[in-house]
Amino acid sequence: MNMLDLIYKKRNGEILQKEEIAFFVNAVTNNSVPDYQIAAFLMTIFFQKMNKHETANLTEAMMNSGDIVSLTEIDGVKVDKHSTGGVGDKTTIALGPMVAACGVPVAKMSGRGLGHTGGTIDKLEAFTGIKTDMSIDDFIQRVNDIQLAVAGQTSNLAPADKKLYALRDVTGTVDNISLIASSVMSKKLASGADAIVLDVKYGSGAFMKTSADAEELAALMVSIGEKLNRKIVALVTDMDQPLGYAIGNTLEVIEAINVLKGKGPEDVTRLCIELGSQILVLAEKTDSLSNARNMMKETINNGSALNKLKQFVQLQNGDTRLIDSEESFWSTKFQYNVIAKESGFVYSINAEYIGKAALALGAGRTTKDSVIDLNVGIILNKKRGEYVNANESIAIIYSNDNGLISEAEKWIEQAYHFNQDKPEEVEMIQKII
Ligand code: URA
Repeated sequence: MNMLDLIYKKRNGEILQKEEIAFFVNAVTNNSVPDYQIAAFLMTIFFQKMNKHETANLTEAMMNSGDIVSLTEIDGVKVDKHSTGGVGDKTTIALGPMVAACGVPVAKMSGRGLGHTGGTIDKLEAFTGIKTDMSIDDFIQRVNDIQLAVAGQTSNLAPADKKLYALRDVTGTVDNISLIASSVMSKKLASGADAIVLDVKYGSGAFMKTSADAEELAALMVSIGEKLNRKIVALVTDMDQPLGYAIGNTLEVIEAINVLKGKGPEDVTRLCIELGSQILVLAEKTDSLSNARNMMKETINNGSALNKLKQFVQLQNGDTRLIDSEESFWSTKFQYNVIAKESGFVYSINAEYIGKAALALGAGRTTKDSVIDLNVGIILNKKRGEYVNANESIAIIYSNDNGLISEAEKWIEQAYHFNQDKPEEVEMIQKII
């Protein structure tokens, strides 16, 4: 078997066998094929597509390319949640404590952000000093102690995916359903959870632009998880505007804290409750979604989720003072109001452009070595469906560099579309698979 034969085979639209896919993944992991052949092969997959079986075989081979974490020393059904990425998505920071407060162990491995979508590990660093780099033994100990730990992915978790993802990023082969499904699921399956809840996003801020494409991706990931004996549910959710009002690391953490204080935005709070209810049912805490919703809401009402967040931050060496008095632990040198030039209903907000505005301020990375400014970001004052008068502020830019504000402003202005008619309401949760 050699790489060139595999390139020809897929290029000609043939179905690849399990051993051929394993050969490819091994070669990627061992660095025994040049990048140009890997890139060519990725492009053949992009155009010729993979079927469900090929995708499952690719996922399994990528999962087996590195460490497989065993969480058997943790009692109970271990759950993990994964979002395919969006703008303003801070759900993990609120959801983790809510689920843990219900007694379900949350063992979460998360990544850093790249491009316009943020990563949970970066956001958590708003808690000064927090440590997300830890041994598997410490990770397990923390989950056993307080039901919640969030760690950065170990460097040897699905290493084939790391290499492939980096090449996909620079060869225009990211947005292929089989490549996304295998990338996400190989890491989730290698991370050791028994049950997985996926939040598959669609819209202007997501990889999948339409709800139909997101549904197809969700169904594919669910079928892969089931094939590998995991309990798994996927929610297909709207990312056609940012989630919540805050975009930027510390700002998003503050918004997540507000969810736990019962004063968070409706959309973020609802998404946390819905994702969490699915988790409670998978973890067999209850067999009714409506009971599960009540249990999730109760963790906000009785303060147990907020206490769980404090415990978690403290145990991972972070400064918890942001939780009680956010204002004294967060500031930027400059604040700038973006003013509406016309009146009308906000018809749409391109989430990717808002992500790019945050990126321009330094809230995200443009290369994997970029240093991010945790404090900068954007607070949206108006969301889809709200009426705006000309000269009213639609968003506030928080920056530490005056020179970066005008680019962020341009992105925000391009993101907002106004109309004299009120847009129809979009159901945030489009489908449960
Ligand atoms: N997230 C991943 O981990 N991989 C992808 O391919 C896309 C989103």
